[in-house]
Amino acid sequence: MYFTDLNSLKADLEKNYRHFPLVEKASDLIHGEGHETAEIMLIGEAPGFHESVQRRPFVGRSGQLLRKVLAENGLLEEQLYISNIIKVRPPDNRDPLPQEILAFKPYLDAEIQLIKPKLIITLGRFSMAKFLSKVKVSAVHGRLHKIKWQEQLLYILPMYHPAAALRATKLKQAFIHDFAKIKKVLDFIETASDEQKFTSVVKEALL
Ligand code: URA
Repeated sequence: MYFTDLNSLKADLEKNYRHFPLVEKASDLIHGEGHETAEIMLIGEAPGFHESVQRRPFVGRSGQLLRKVLAENGLLEEQLYISNIIKVRPPDNRDPLPQEILAFKPYLDAEIQLIKPKLIITLGRFSMAKFLSKVKVSAVHGRLHKIKWQEQLLYILPMYHPAAALRATKLKQAFIHDFAKIKKVLDFIETASDEQKFTSVVKEALL
């Protein structure tokens, strides 16, 4: 799926809302938010209650934590694009189902193709699983991964989901610690040249 800009992508999604699971009307859809030229794309799981009321991603309690750590680390709105694996609130905030993830996949893929972020931050296991298989967030959070995805190289930084960070102090500490690495990671991506350098710098600077 190819779109020339984010507005046409959103318009197409709304026009076709009947084809999506859980979506009863176009206004059930919660689009990604942010700048088309964003360096960093953050991908969460699914909108919750507050997101479905305000029609914006990450505006409830976990969104407030997320936006706070981003701001505290000097990341500006124009550097960011925030989206979700599925763009509708699941009943009772249950986990998204495989067929729901699949239904929204072409649009999420198109968002990535349009924005071409330097860095993708996955929030929680569902968005991480889009890029990294057979790993657990607890084992790889805060560690930069370079992967091949649809014929392009992507840098993926898996993070705990902010809702998980709100549930456990230990995870919250790790979440805050990982977000403090983002500027360093961006600098690294800008200057990284060969594989050897990648491996050693990642070990030194990012673990
Ligand atoms: N949790 C998510 O994964 N996404 C949101 O937009 C809000 C909460």
